[in-house]
Amino acid sequence: MKGIIFTEFLSMVEDAHGLDMVDTIIEKSDLPSGGAYTAVGTYPHTEIVSLVCNLSEEIHIEVSDLLKEFGRHLFHQLAKSYPVFVKKSATPLDFLEQVETYIHVEVRKLYPDAELPSFECARPHSANQLYMTYHSVRHMEDVCEGLIRGSLEHFNSKADIERKSVDDDSELFIITIT
Ligand code: HEM
Repeated sequence: MKGIIFTEFLSMVEDAHGLDMVDTIIEKSDLPSGGAYTAVGTYPHTEIVSLVCNLSEEIHIEVSDLLKEFGRHLFHQLAKSYPVFVKKSATPLDFLEQVETYIHVEVRKLYPDAELPSFECARPHSANQLYMTYHSVRHMEDVCEGLIRGSLEHFNSKADIERKSVDDDSELFIITIT
């Protein structure tokens, strides 16, 4: 997993809970990398799981809630770092459809070793409702939900998000603009 994911996670923890909390969870997580992340490095994705589990223990917030919150934070940081990717779309659903066909394609060119999920998108019932199926062996569906929520906020849109497990490595998100 790319270092940017780790540096953004730790900066979110630092902003919300201070540098001591960052040190505490790094120490408790016993990380192969030692926790010295650079944005362009690549690290085992299991390290983010350890960091989040330890943060959850420290601050008594559910892991899934922390991962969703992290996804929202990450989206806003990514949109700041790569403004060109968000400027191209007029609506949040158009934007979300472009994650698979354009954004992650460009990300792969920048970082050939990126571990990216894949998505299948369709609007079977209405232009205001997107079926987005997430596939990844890394099971970041809660981060994915947060990224979707962050995207909706970015476009000042409100939507209902329904989630259904499809199989071991796939989750369907039904996003309905309200
Ligand atoms: C400006 C927009 C975006 C950029 C620049 C971007 C870029 C990236 C990068 C660099 C990674 C890390 C790859 C790695 O760790 O090796 C990543 C992972 C991921 N991205 Fe995106 N992304 C964007 C938007 C989105 C959105 C809107 C979604 C959700 C619909 C999404 C879903 C994910 C997920 C779930 C992962 C975690 C890896 C996994 O699940 O396998 N991304 N993305």
